[in-house]
Amino acid sequence: MLRLTIAGLLLLGTSTLIWADEAVVLTPAAAPAPHINGPRVYGCRPDRPLLYRIPATGTRPIAFAAEGLPDGLKLDAATGIITGSIAQRGEYPVTLRARNDLGADSRTWKIVCGDTLALTPPMGWNSWYIHYGHVTDQHMRTAADQMIASGMADYGYQYVNIDDCWGNAPKHGKFIRDPQRVGPSRDAEGNILPNHFFPDMKAMTDYIHGKGLKAGIYTSPGPLTCGGYTGSYEHEAQDARQFAAWGFDFLKYDWCSYGSVSGGTTLDKQQKPFRLMWGELQKLDRDIVFNLCQYGKGEVWKWGGEMGNCWRTTRDLGGTKVTNLPGFYVIGFMNAEHWENARPGGWNDPDYILIGWVDDSGQMGESRQTTLTPDEQYAFMSMWCLMAAPLIFSGDMAKLDPFTLNVLCNHEVIDVDQDVLGRQARIVRKTDREFILAKDLEDGSKAVGLFNLAADAAPIAMKWSDFDLTGKQRIRDLWRQKDLGTEDGTYKVTIPAHGVLLLRMWPDGVKKP
Ligand code: GLA
Repeated sequence: MLRLTIAGLLLLGTSTLIWADEAVVLTPAAAPAPHINGPRVYGCRPDRPLLYRIPATGTRPIAFAAEGLPDGLKLDAATGIITGSIAQRGEYPVTLRARNDLGADSRTWKIVCGDTLALTPPMGWNSWYIHYGHVTDQHMRTAADQMIASGMADYGYQYVNIDDCWGNAPKHGKFIRDPQRVGPSRDAEGNILPNHFFPDMKAMTDYIHGKGLKAGIYTSPGPLTCGGYTGSYEHEAQDARQFAAWGFDFLKYDWCSYGSVSGGTTLDKQQKPFRLMWGELQKLDRDIVFNLCQYGKGEVWKWGGEMGNCWRTTRDLGGTKVTNLPGFYVIGFMNAEHWENARPGGWNDPDYILIGWVDDSGQMGESRQTTLTPDEQYAFMSMWCLMAAPLIFSGDMAKLDPFTLNVLCNHEVIDVDQDVLGRQARIVRKTDREFILAKDLEDGSKAVGLFNLAADAAPIAMKWSDFDLTGKQRIRDLWRQKDLGTEDGTYKVTIPAHGVLLLRMWPDGVKKP
């Protein structure tokens, strides 16, 4: 019954694969009446600009309202964009509302104005695995346009993040093929210079912000980035101020060449550049979410939360070589080990969601439709949500197909990732054939992922004692958004090859939110 069919694969030309069979699109289409999505909690700091576009599906026009907005914030009722700033620290419970001719919805949204950002894992898009050393201002604007047009923003995706290759490089290299990316690092005052393809950073972030979205940038604590472009070494404070002045809301800080100047490999030396930049970010008049990227060195999951909002736990997912399982499983298994270290404001980051039209080689080769099967793609997204990972898609925003959007945009699946409790799933079982994750959720329910690692469909059985559960449980299939019934004690189901069943279980009788 739960077996997916992958028949109906459509072949376009000789090399283009599009998953066109409706049978693999598991998630029902969004209703025309409004449905508000997104996190139920939001962190900001006092007196810094706040920008939040209420994520909501439903036929436009929608009239938005917000009850309980603190002084200093205002809502544009037609766009659902909240702007302003809050002077007083504190917790502000807000009720968001959305109404159109066909119905209405509401959702609680608590603003916590204090010291901590990213109270739920960041969601958005990053340029790396599609644009590499070709990235331009226009790509970023198109990504913002498409985040709105595709509906992704209506599910909570909000960051539009440029990765490496926006600056100048001293000389040509693997990721520096265009002479217009070679040039001076900085001006006479030491200000870092964007390359020819980024003529006006402030205009670009204004454009992104104008849609209610946020903008991210990338640099390295070393003299050069991984791609060979100018890094922030010995210019940390100046660059932090520049990024804020340009209007960025997110910074990825990528170790790379820092090893040449670190002066050693002690834990203190490894932490030093991140602690330094974190300190600079705190001084800014802007909230900037800080993403550590140092590939898991020095067990970063144990201390990343002291100086960042999320930290890569492994090497790059793109280009990960595997024998019998796709790379996301290999990287996911490693990231899953650190479940006890995730918490609101500090998340394990297993790298980007590489589906859709993407170059997952990590090498700036040719992009193509992902070679992951539909079942593998559901497993990928399920694992990232159970692990409370940042949900950052890194495929082509200009070539989003219905199947990719179906994987990225299931609000019940995303709710698992964005849950207010901020727990990462613990590993319940890991064998050669089975992987089971369980995540505690704020309302007392549990999200459970049953992953079949075998190359053929196979049954997986679970017992309540695996999850410290007793009594009858109401079980819901989150991909299909369908209740599967009430079970007591055990549950057994056949899962497709490399696929998943993603469940949420409530004690029987408890009303779901
Ligand atoms: C490293 C990072 C990647 C990407 C590239 C850019 O490999 O891990 O995520 O940012 O650098 O050069």
